[in-house]
Amino acid sequence: MYKANSNRYKEIMKYRKCGNSGIVLPEISLGLWHNFGSVDEYENYSQIAFEAFDSGITYFDLANNYGPMAGSAESNFGTILKKGLINHRDEMIISSKAGYIMWDGPYGNGGSRKHLVSSINQSLKRIGVDYLDIFYSHRPDPNTPIEETMEALSDIVRSGKALYVGISNYTPAQTAQAASILKKNNTPCIIHQGRYSMLARTPEEGLLDTLEAENIGFVAFSPLAQGLLTNKYITSIPDDSRAAKQSGYLKLEQVNEDVMHKVRQLNTLAIERGQTLAQMATSWILRDSRVTTVVVGASSTLQLRDNIASINSKVFTSDELNIIDSILS
Ligand SMILES: NC(=O)c1ccc[n+]([C@@H]2O[C@H](COP(=O)([O-])OP(=O)(O)OC[C@H]3O[C@@H](n4cnc5c(N)ncnc54)[C@H](OP(=O)(O)O)[C@@H]3O)[C@@H](O)[C@H]2O)c1
Repeated sequence: MYKANSNRYKEIMKYRKCGNSGIVLPEISLGLWHNFGSVDEYENYSQIAFEAFDSGITYFDLANNYGPMAGSAESNFGTILKKGLINHRDEMIISSKAGYIMWDGPYGNGGSRKHLVSSINQSLKRIGVDYLDIFYSHRPDPNTPIEETMEALSDIVRSGKALYVGISNYTPAQTAQAASILKKNNTPCIIHQGRYSMLARTPEEGLLDTLEAENIGFVAFSPLAQGLLTNKYITSIPDDSRAAKQSGYLKLEQVNEDVMHKVRQLNTLAIERGQTLAQMATSWILRDSRVTTVVVGASSTLQLRDNIASINSKVFTSDELNIIDSILS
């Protein structure tokens, strides 16, 4: 059985307030999109989860479809909880999401009340908990009135199946609309989850401003661009990498010379700053106080440790930020 590190809140992690809610989230969170599925090894992923908690990571990010197989990351996390982590349930923020294709038929996808309520019921069973801390609409659904999606999220909170509402992949305008409906429903949106990294800067084009104006927290996902912003691909494409596994999410053609030219320059700057590229990439996101947490993926405890160490990064000088902008331009 797992026994938690009694110094987990004393040593490493820092926490940021999550929007206009009463909770804080760790600057680094753990995402279970990859590496926790039925194709992965329990011994490895359970150690990653335990080490995360031992390092002060309280936020574990799931979705109905994480795996593969879809659903297996939630079931496997349920098994990890049973190995002792469940004793710390009240110290944990466990999230899940619904909105991408999950089961056959017309209700297995989207933002309808039918999909969201059925999906959270399934997630609770798989994870083996009575409630989730945050339940997200995983993406906007053009075929469902946004009022229906938001009302379903509000009712999920009222029913006690989730404590807080989040949204993901919504545009700034959709975010403002969702926030306004959720406020009227008295179940405010506390968090938005969007892709943000040195290689994906769309949130700078209005989303972060909207979130600041609405006092909503922000989770940056794929902060390492799925591994590109680490030293993993600097010389070759390793066999055990996400790109080589060809899961379809990080395609081989994304590891191209144009990207790698930038990555190598960024790596040189990271070395000059006395850190790894992964640490620089993560701390670059955390330089913006509108970001609540950076949700990293990890296929080993070594990677997780590397990423967590970014917490102690030096503050960027304006020269360094300009160099990064010019490398990326
Ligand atoms: N809301 C959404 O729509 C959405 C979408 C995507 C993700 N997310 C969330 O964001 C989380 C993170 O996404 P992500 O996995 O794409 O994040 P990421 O942190 O950008 O990439 C993680 C991958 O990078 C590599 N890596 C991580 N740390 C490393 C290190 N220190 N050195 C070398 N390589 C390292 C590993 O790849 P290898 O496996 O190749 O070793 C790892 O699997 C997900 O788990 C999920 O919770 C949400």
